[in-house]
Amino acid sequence: MIQHNFRLAILAILTSSLLAVASHASDALPDDRPNRNRGPLALNVFSGAMPMPNGIQVKSGSAILEVVAVRDDVIRVRVGIDGKLPEDASWAVLSRSRQNSTDTTVENNSESVGFRTHSLRVKIARSDLRLSIADLDGNILQEDPVGWPVTFHSEEFRVYKKMPDDEHYFGLGDKVGPLDRRGHSFTLWNTDTFEFQESTDPIYKSIPFFLTLRKGRSIGVLLDNTWCSNFDFGKASVDKYSFGADGGAIDYYIIYGPDPKRVLNTYAWLTGTPPLPPLWSFGYQQSRYSYETENRVREIAMKLRTEKIPSDVLYLDIDYQQQNRPFTVDSQKFPHFSEMIRDLGQQHFHVVTITDSHIAHAPDQNYSPYNTGLRGDHFVKNPDGSLYVGAVWPGPSVFPDFTRQSTRDWWGQLYGEFVSDGVAGFWNDMNEPSIFLTPTKTMPPQTRHRIDEAGFAKRTATHLEIHNVYGMENSRATYEGLLKLTPNLRPFVLTRATYAGGQRYAATWTGDNSSTWNHLRLTTPMLLNLGLSGFGMSGADVGGFAGTPQPELLTKWIELATFQPIDRNHTAKGTGDQEPWVHGSEHEAIRRRYIEERYQLLPYLYTTAEEMTRDGLPIVRPLFLEFPAASEDNHPLDLDAPDEFLFGPSLLVAPFRFADELDSYDVILPPGDWFDYWTGERVTGASKPHAVTRIKIQPQLDVLPIYARAGSIIPMQPLTQSTGEVPQGPLTLRVYPGPNCGGGLYQDDGTTLNYQRGSYLRMNFSCEAATGSLRVHIGASEGSYHPWWKQYKIQVFGWDSSTASVLLNGKSNIVKASLDPEHHVLTFDMPEAGEADVRISLLP
Ligand code: GLC
Repeated sequence: MIQHNFRLAILAILTSSLLAVASHASDALPDDRPNRNRGPLALNVFSGAMPMPNGIQVKSGSAILEVVAVRDDVIRVRVGIDGKLPEDASWAVLSRSRQNSTDTTVENNSESVGFRTHSLRVKIARSDLRLSIADLDGNILQEDPVGWPVTFHSEEFRVYKKMPDDEHYFGLGDKVGPLDRRGHSFTLWNTDTFEFQESTDPIYKSIPFFLTLRKGRSIGVLLDNTWCSNFDFGKASVDKYSFGADGGAIDYYIIYGPDPKRVLNTYAWLTGTPPLPPLWSFGYQQSRYSYETENRVREIAMKLRTEKIPSDVLYLDIDYQQQNRPFTVDSQKFPHFSEMIRDLGQQHFHVVTITDSHIAHAPDQNYSPYNTGLRGDHFVKNPDGSLYVGAVWPGPSVFPDFTRQSTRDWWGQLYGEFVSDGVAGFWNDMNEPSIFLTPTKTMPPQTRHRIDEAGFAKRTATHLEIHNVYGMENSRATYEGLLKLTPNLRPFVLTRATYAGGQRYAATWTGDNSSTWNHLRLTTPMLLNLGLSGFGMSGADVGGFAGTPQPELLTKWIELATFQPIDRNHTAKGTGDQEPWVHGSEHEAIRRRYIEERYQLLPYLYTTAEEMTRDGLPIVRPLFLEFPAASEDNHPLDLDAPDEFLFGPSLLVAPFRFADELDSYDVILPPGDWFDYWTGERVTGASKPHAVTRIKIQPQLDVLPIYARAGSIIPMQPLTQSTGEVPQGPLTLRVYPGPNCGGGLYQDDGTTLNYQRGSYLRMNFSCEAATGSLRVHIGASEGSYHPWWKQYKIQVFGWDSSTASVLLNGKSNIVKASLDPEHHVLTFDMPEAGEADVRISLLP
């Protein structure tokens, strides 16, 4: 946690070490580096081409450029500069997707060679090897600029692309800064950045994936390279963007949309989706560094229940351990650890404990993780074969070599005792890996890792190659270990560092933010871009980590986090208390009300999450994802409304950019009608196809403006104090009539994998409005899971007449409806009896 921007220092050190490595290439690292000790090499000479069934190989001197169609809408580009292509292996891309292939049609002419798929046309210019990709209507989706070929310099490479004036860029995980990456440059090198700010780069994660959006059309690009890489979206030049890395292979994928949602579906096909999280992880989570004693933990639990703050999760940060040693418990401070976990479980609390990725270097001290790790040869080594030892929280520490299957297996079983004590989830921190007392904040570049992984050649690799995947493989070891220990329970793993594809193993959070209004504002673009990069299960420390929030800031933060995937209040050592009750009853009441709203929205949130595990669409979404062509000139609406986002498909959240100020502000609503979620007021959209609606809002401490999209049906449940409590009463369906009206519902037992064997419930709802009447259809249910409700409460919004008749499956007068004129809602209850057709009509 050394607080500097070390980017330049790191780059300088990396560059000098690369040069050093290059100049000793034959003796220092003979086994894992190709001989690329050479000056600049540009890939711009055509020396021949060879068609392949799924693409083309082009020769440029001794270099090979291979462009193939993995699918009709996915192109993969690889370059080998020494007469052969690089190893075809990946930590990110699933092998079944990587090895997929589709037939293509050769398209050569006097100017270019290339091919066509059913969606795309790929051309490589004979004059200078410029690559261009277009759709079949001739719209260029991506194109190399004239005079800027792919260039190698020693081990580094750089790829350039034209940057049209009206193209926008999103993704790269939670890199700080605006949602649109245009005009900025980013380095991907996982770094512990305590108190990061808007200008801090690199930060904790490396997710080398971005989407472009231009004229409503989108593509995705994944540079599958684990080395320190860099993406420049027009910072160095106004008409080009570029990406490159300090080593490793040129291996990138271009994913065609044109709908940005489709790009995300396909990115999920390539790199996987998040696993279905346990339901309790969507509850309110309370943490701090640290609840230092068993008594304090019990006190917090009790207070959450007596104050009636609905909550599900308590975190134990490093101080529960003996001398900060992972996989130990300080029995002085936590004398009845197992009993405490059991008692908290009885109060419906799930406990998540931190287990950092290092192991204390504690020879001859009866510290079993060290002893067994050493015996099994599981730790990362120096180039001379000795153990690499670096300082972290426990003092001198060693680092598991997570790129080995056997090391991951060993790590996984270290959780055995905690799992049998009933600890519900695990938090993998410091896994950049973070190392203290060194200017680079991490291991020396030449530290040795061993790759022993299906699909890869068995070999040693330097830390330069493994650094960015270290955290992901750490969280993978935890995830897979937990699945082995309790094969029918859904693991919950929270990781700080990760790489593309890491969503398969763990949820993530944005690291050590600060208790400032600016950081509250930063969470939105950070979480949105994480979601666009595969990580839909994410959160930011609610209230801020560094510093103590003002009462208004904590209140506003709790309001916002209600509508984020993970809602975890966490703060640093030495800061003021940050639980919802700390600033008096007025603030507490507002905070409680929002947390309660989240619990009532759980059916909607959980349904959205389950969809994410199948289609890769994130829980929080920028406006352009749902409305890609909603403006006259097709620019993303998010540029006009940078703080707004969608929570699931149907709810728009519109926080004030400057929540600490009193000025009124405009909320921009995408085309169509909307309903004020709190008042039920209908906001009628303009009739022109691209027109947005602007509403003036006067900020209020206790209101976070939310709008429901006309045409949605949102399932909600009666309030509970935790997800462990069975809701009492009907399932509410909030019906907001409008075009293509519908909604879904997914339920299961919330914790096991029984859903994979059919024990789930999935339903669809729809509605259709005509003058003076509305028809609501409750679809047949799929799956064998029996939910808790016996009744539905139907709430029809935008309804103003008390004289309504409700017909259920054609029978009249069995249902009594009542009108709430203030909120324009007609409400009635009806029994749950399978598929149902409900007609609501105005009485004449
Ligand atoms: C790191 C984490 C933070 C945690 C602290 C102590 O700074 O980012 O969340 O509380 O370490 O474990």
